[in-house]
Amino acid sequence: MKDSFKPRTHPLVWVIAIICTILSIAVIITGIVVFVGYMIIRPRVPFISVTSAHLDTIRYDQAGLLEIEMAIDIRAENDNAKAHASFSDTSFVLSFDALQIAKLVDGPFDVSKNSSTVFNYVIPSSQIPLDRTRMEQLDFSLKRNEITFDLKGNSRTRWRVGLLGSVKFWCHLNCELRFHTLNGSYISSRRCSSKSK
Ligand SMILES: *[C@@H]1O[C@H](CO)[C@@H](O)[C@H](O)[C@H]1NC(C)=O
Ligand SMILES: *[C@@H]1O[C@H](CO)[C@@H](O)[C@H](O)[C@H]1NC(C)=O
Repeated sequence: MKDSFKPRTHPLVWVIAIICTILSIAVIITGIVVFVGYMIIRPRVPFISVTSAHLDTIRYDQAGLLEIEMAIDIRAENDNAKAHASFSDTSFVLSFDALQIAKLVDGPFDVSKNSSTVFNYVIPSSQIPLDRTRMEQLDFSLKRNEITFDLKGNSRTRWRVGLLGSVKFWCHLNCELRFHTLNGSYISSRRCSSKSK
């Protein structure tokens, strides 16, 4: 009895199989198109980095008042050949031994295709009272002729990637700025950049 009942493929199964095949081909073609598009456009994430800095003044009295003046150049770079990039919510904090010294803030700005913009931040003279631990830390730095500050912050960048539309990305900067205390020159040891490489 069972032999006479030959299983036949239901027409609906055929329809579903054909739809699945078409969908798979569509997915593969989309993948190829996106990949080729990516290779042609080669989107680059815009980034920010410290290009140079200088410690113009560093004075310190026995009462524990630290006075500094500093210049920091931060570059926003857009390596995309076909898209300009816009940056917003730019804000950095400069600190000494976790004590905030200055805040660098910038309004929105644009960087055109394949170019860069440098911002020259000047931290004006200000007197910062130090506690005992930081006074010792500073004494030690002056003796060593080398002082370290921390620079942390973000900037949000947005740029167009071909037909995909605009992409948003946070650039994070978190690095140490080291200076010789005697002449104020910047020691560029490790790269201070939001570019992850
Ligand atoms: C981008 O700029 C560099 C120099 O800054 C230049 O050598 C290069 O040809 C430019 N690329 C495009 C696509 O404009
Ligand atoms: C500053 O001083 C350091 C060592 O004290 C030296 O290596 C450096 O070249 C000096 N920089 C300038 C610009 O004189």
